[in-house]
Amino acid sequence: MRCFGCGARISGAEAQPDFRCAVCGDLFEVEYPGWSERRGPDRPNPGALKWLWRERRCSSEELDHSGVWRFRELLPILDSFGNAVSLREGNTPLYRLIRSSKALGIDQLYAKHQGMNPTGSFKDTGMTAALSVAKERGFEWVACASTGNTSAAMAAYAARAGLRSLVLIPDGKIAWGKLSQAMDYGAVTCQIKADFDGCLQLLIEIVKEAPIYLLNSINPYRLEGQKTPAFEIAEAFDWNVPDHLIVPGGNLGNSSALGKGFREMMELGLVARMPKISVIQAAGANPLVRSLAETKGASIEPVEAHTRATAIRIGNPASWRKAARAIQETGGWCLDVTEAEIAMAKAEIGAEGLGCEPASAVTLAGLKKLRSQGKIGSRETVVLVLTGHMLKDADYTIDFHRGTLLNDEEKVGLEAKIDGLRRDAVKVEATRAAVMTAMKERAE
Ligand code: F0G
Repeated sequence: MRCFGCGARISGAEAQPDFRCAVCGDLFEVEYPGWSERRGPDRPNPGALKWLWRERRCSSEELDHSGVWRFRELLPILDSFGNAVSLREGNTPLYRLIRSSKALGIDQLYAKHQGMNPTGSFKDTGMTAALSVAKERGFEWVACASTGNTSAAMAAYAARAGLRSLVLIPDGKIAWGKLSQAMDYGAVTCQIKADFDGCLQLLIEIVKEAPIYLLNSINPYRLEGQKTPAFEIAEAFDWNVPDHLIVPGGNLGNSSALGKGFREMMELGLVARMPKISVIQAAGANPLVRSLAETKGASIEPVEAHTRATAIRIGNPASWRKAARAIQETGGWCLDVTEAEIAMAKAEIGAEGLGCEPASAVTLAGLKKLRSQGKIGSRETVVLVLTGHMLKDADYTIDFHRGTLLNDEEKVGLEAKIDGLRRDAVKVEATRAAVMTAMKERAE
């Protein structure tokens, strides 16, 4: 592992329980010697890899059915791949966004739907990697602080591996779908009177004392799994990467991981360039937007986070430096979107027949802004990363369609647009005539 701050190198087994560098306190990154060199025995052969990964799609080996471990040559983090704990994650669909594509005048607009993973979010791709390390190293307990999706994923993978899991979540500020998953998969679930940042701080104190393996995205193995959607995207475009990748930003692990995935592919000669990576935050939880605007990413000021997109309600993101690098090295942007913009974008993604959770919809809201600012051309290929499944937070969706989600202030100037997107359910008498009338009224 290499420290992102001071460059100190340690072996994986030497990492401290909180995965911070003992010298400078920054986070580590998994580094593979020889990959960035032009030649050498440690450098995999790109042509052979592409062929092998495609062959595995027809394989009957269980591990080959995972969209993460299918790429295991670029994920050599286990002593034995026999220790991998998999729920057949990854291999998620890349959908064309037909309506939004027309509305925005972009020919090639896609959604990589990471909500189609086994527990309904992108966290599964990271969890299969880091939890397998926990199992291989003989831990009995794993733990995470979470806004909901990490805990759902961790609880499921821990259950599959026969490990116990501890979840710290902010009391009252997570979506019920996610909480129900942690319970059903058998985690010890603690609702803490603190926000996500407080939960993570508390958990770090706990893992420093007890032999519990931390599975938040400060654990660099999480990011190794989460880089694999970059491989899937490149493969789907026949190794010609799209021009833009748009990702939601919370704790900023995912944007960092996808950046690493594309960077490694480029270093290894699998692709010729990286896409521009843009990160979108909610306006009420936008510390990276501020950091880049005010200090060009030199420092970050934590904010008190507020947004109904509870997955990204994070004011002090751990991986901000790594995410800033991904944006800056690719020439992408970082911007924020309002609660109304998120809600409208979510309804638009729903109207495409796809759906996603609120945090994922910031990508489309962000794309609209980038397009209106002239930063994305009509001929460019754009991929939105939809991070979570629509059913994770059904309350949000119902409140939007009933018209009770947003307050008047949030809706100012957008009332007609919002009403045009709402599809509330109607109570109708049990007669043919009443149903036909309701249908006609709605059709109009
Ligand atoms: N989208 C969804 C659906 C999420 O659950 C998260 C993060 C993000 C986006 C942001 O990703 O943190 O890597 O920048 N959820 C975490 C959790 C924090 O605990 O489930 P990030």
